[in-house]
Amino acid sequence: MLTHLAPSNSHLYGPPFDSNSSMDSSSDTEDSDSCSTSSSSIFSPPSSASTSKTSYVPSARSASPVPSVWSLTSSMRAQAFKHEYGRGLNNYSEVYRLPADDEELDRLDAQHNMFMEVMGKYPPCMEEVMTDDIPGETKAVLDLGCGSGRWIMDVARDFPYCSAVAVDLVPMQSIYMPPNLRSEVDDINLGLEHFYGDFNVVHARLISSGVKDYEGLINHISMVLRPAGLIDIMEFDFCIYDENHQRIEVETSKIAEPWLPRWMAFANLAARNRGGDVDAATHLETWVTNHAAFENVIYEDFWLPTCDWRSDSEFMMRMGISMRDDILAFLKSGRPLLLSSGLPEDLVNELEANAARELQFTKARHYVRLQCLHARKRRN
Ligand SMILES: C[S@@+](CC[C@H](N)C(=O)[O-])C[C@H]1O[C@@H](n2cnc3c(N)ncnc32)[C@H](O)[C@@H]1O
Repeated sequence: MLTHLAPSNSHLYGPPFDSNSSMDSSSDTEDSDSCSTSSSSIFSPPSSASTSKTSYVPSARSASPVPSVWSLTSSMRAQAFKHEYGRGLNNYSEVYRLPADDEELDRLDAQHNMFMEVMGKYPPCMEEVMTDDIPGETKAVLDLGCGSGRWIMDVARDFPYCSAVAVDLVPMQSIYMPPNLRSEVDDINLGLEHFYGDFNVVHARLISSGVKDYEGLINHISMVLRPAGLIDIMEFDFCIYDENHQRIEVETSKIAEPWLPRWMAFANLAARNRGGDVDAATHLETWVTNHAAFENVIYEDFWLPTCDWRSDSEFMMRMGISMRDDILAFLKSGRPLLLSSGLPEDLVNELEANAARELQFTKARHYVRLQCLHARKRRN
């Protein structure tokens, strides 16, 4: 069964609520969503996926495509989200427990802007991969765990003749969806077989806490890519590093300084206990390098100061401020993850308040490490 969503008018992105509102669908006034049918299929190749729609992929997959398609109603939209610990979360995965509400999408948008300044938008070979060089083949790009969709919307606009597909646990609802972008609601832990052989580029950024078997995901990506296709990944290891780039090892049996490393250790443990592959960043380079399907592996570490302590560089100071603001928002985003892990609320409050204070006033000389990799699929 496949569901297409009509974009919501009241929200630029995401669910029909803000992070403080109730999830009661009876108070939702967006019943004006039209119901329509169409004959397109979620299993059709991306070259036929050039409409700006969102589809739901069923968790129990059928071997054969189911042709019916209809717009999302408010009750269906309410089904996609749940309200927990004051935030709106996806209602699909028990593994991924960060919010999917407007507040989180704003954080992801700001984070995307920071990444664009630090890493740039695409790997250098993106233009070459996207060059229209094979007669009859529409270039196709897949974003796994697209979040607010900022990256994949850029792709769809920068390469208007490509076909772009964004997958996430919640529907993407930007009113600025380019016509060549389709969003799909799906849990990528269920496999990507329905995409095999269909894409020239596969991108994934910061999704490890929702992925159960990241090495298995890399294998799926190797099958999803066409020959000479590009895999482009960035992950974070849920750890904090000192000024010498050494990991700050802290225990969760103690509640004490250093606070941000301590908070992160709790978040790391909580995500791990839910089944998230939080060590993926650490193993990414080995997994892709050792995979027979890939060549030309380029791996890079990016070290971002957690606040504006890098006074040696105006750029690093500015990135430190962006990172600090991102982490301050992330401390709030992590509440459902920490609280659902069984930590008492007063402990979560203490960790969060102290980590925020450390970031804003102590200017501890800490780094976040972002691990980026791109590689090409061999031609044969
Ligand atoms: C931290 S956000 C990053 C979003 C986006 N990639 C970015 O960099 O801005 C992680 C996203 O991955 C999605 N996600 C996590 N696990 C997923 C899964 N198993 N299947 C589909 N999407 C997933 C989440 O819903 C969330 O939108």
